[in-house]
Amino acid sequence: MKSKSLVSIDQCSEEDILRILENAAGFEKNPNRTLLEGKVAATLFFEPSTRTRLSFEAAVNRLGGRVIGFQDASTTSSSKGETLKDTILMVSNYADLIIMRHHLEGAARYAAEVSGIPIINAGDGANQHPSQTLLDLYSIRKTQGKLTGLTITIVGDLKYGRTVHSLIVGMSHFKPTFHFVAPDELRMPDEQKNLCDKLHLPYTEHTCFTEEIINRTDILYMTRVQRERFTDLEEYERVKNVYILRNDMLKGSRENLRILHPLPRVNEIAYDVDDNPKAYFIQQARNGLFTRQAIICEVLGINS
Ligand code: CP
Repeated sequence: MKSKSLVSIDQCSEEDILRILENAAGFEKNPNRTLLEGKVAATLFFEPSTRTRLSFEAAVNRLGGRVIGFQDASTTSSSKGETLKDTILMVSNYADLIIMRHHLEGAARYAAEVSGIPIINAGDGANQHPSQTLLDLYSIRKTQGKLTGLTITIVGDLKYGRTVHSLIVGMSHFKPTFHFVAPDELRMPDEQKNLCDKLHLPYTEHTCFTEEIINRTDILYMTRVQRERFTDLEEYERVKNVYILRNDMLKGSRENLRILHPLPRVNEIAYDVDDNPKAYFIQQARNGLFTRQAIICEVLGINS
């Protein structure tokens, strides 16, 4: 990568992505090494998280480093009015790396500009979630044996879902065909569709989630409707349960189909799907540990 921070997946060339996935595969074989001995990582989570924070922290711990940080900004001096810039400058005094989630789009980019140490964007508003994309690509390659030429169907909140926005960019190197399934209120934004047009990547938009679409799919990427991004909660109530994947909808699906979800799920995957061998979302979250170990080493310039 050209930058020492990972702010957006569009910083990563195809070569960068493949290198990180190779290194992640090495960490899957052997996740416990002392590559971060003497290093301190700071996890600054201004928004809630389960998987991203804990898998990053587990990644640092398993590599022999130490973690400082917070998961509730109300316990920090930002609640007294300290600016993000001052917070980042302070934490830069104490740590070798900052992993940050923030509700404002662009917060990670700004942090990377003012910070003296690398920043990893753990999600900024509805904008980007690059470490999620790398673990998604790792999961796709692991289950399909390749990244190129796959049909990817993305379902749910395509407007506010930052994992979706990053996934389009990450997959764009690998000649995908996309199906976008969303209600009109939550359609894929023009920015991502314009990228597909520019790169001649075929995509079709749907408002109905049908078995006919599922049966043409290699990767079914379900997403949650992002309640926290809605200014009008009545609109959220109208769309929150619009698509629910049930096990009986998978009976005509391809053998290689795998169901991914960045999680947390709310109602969009029924529990009867969990025992289907095509359900992969729990293993997908596990892959986050290995992928994040590779990302941490990448931004710190540590050979793994
Ligand atoms: N996928 C994801 O970002 O999950 P968390 O919000 O639990 O970190």
